[in-house]
Amino acid sequence: MAEIVLCVNIDHIATLRQARGGVEPDPVAGAVICEENGAAGITVHLREDRRHIQDLDVAGLRDVVRGKFNLEMALSDDIIAIAKGIVPNQITLVPEKRRELTTEGGLDVGANIKRISEVVRIFHDLGVVVSLFVEPEKRVVDLSRETGADFVELHTGTYCNAKAEAEVQKELDRIHQAAHHAVSIGVRVNAGHGLNYRNLPPILATPGLEELNIGHSIVSRAVFTGLAGAVKEMVDLISTARPA
Ligand code: PXP
Repeated sequence: MAEIVLCVNIDHIATLRQARGGVEPDPVAGAVICEENGAAGITVHLREDRRHIQDLDVAGLRDVVRGKFNLEMALSDDIIAIAKGIVPNQITLVPEKRRELTTEGGLDVGANIKRISEVVRIFHDLGVVVSLFVEPEKRVVDLSRETGADFVELHTGTYCNAKAEAEVQKELDRIHQAAHHAVSIGVRVNAGHGLNYRNLPPILATPGLEELNIGHSIVSRAVFTGLAGAVKEMVDLISTARPA
């Protein structure tokens, strides 16, 4: 079984800084701590409204991140131009609405297939891996393959929000089936959104899963236990809680 790696989403280190508009806590310093404690990479979302991560953070992270630097972004011309200048290791295309608290739902790949395919080509020409954040549905995985994207990141948010046991199981099955389908047609699999230390273990059984993007739960735990410990605990959970 291939290893599942953790990319820590550090957006909310920047959220805390933006609360006072100063310089601390610094997400770039946070990225170093995450990587020193077992993260395989760092993820940030440069949002059009710049509510947390700023352009300067992205430039600083490009210099400092030693593993995978994954930039989440909307299909926005301005952000695409910035990403072309930065050349991260991976971009993850996400939908973005100004008034949402966090990313809601996956990309509408069908409605944007021409534009997404163009963006995939642009970034492939720069040597950048492309991932599409999508709902765990076979149909969307098929469309993602048509765009030429390397990965789908399966949206785990509905699973994480499910309360009743039957609903949790249904959402888990949806994720596992979509991943199985992705692998069978040659699309690689990442997952993320809403994952925490409690709801993660069943996700580790996802077929072909390579990378997890986890942010809010790690930064939240870090407030009480420190970032190094919070990252280490998640990395340990990924390696020990995986079903054989
Ligand atoms: N993956 C994607 C595409 C996201 O948009 C986010 C949130 O920014 C995450 C993963 C991480 O979600 P969370 O902060 O809930 O762990």
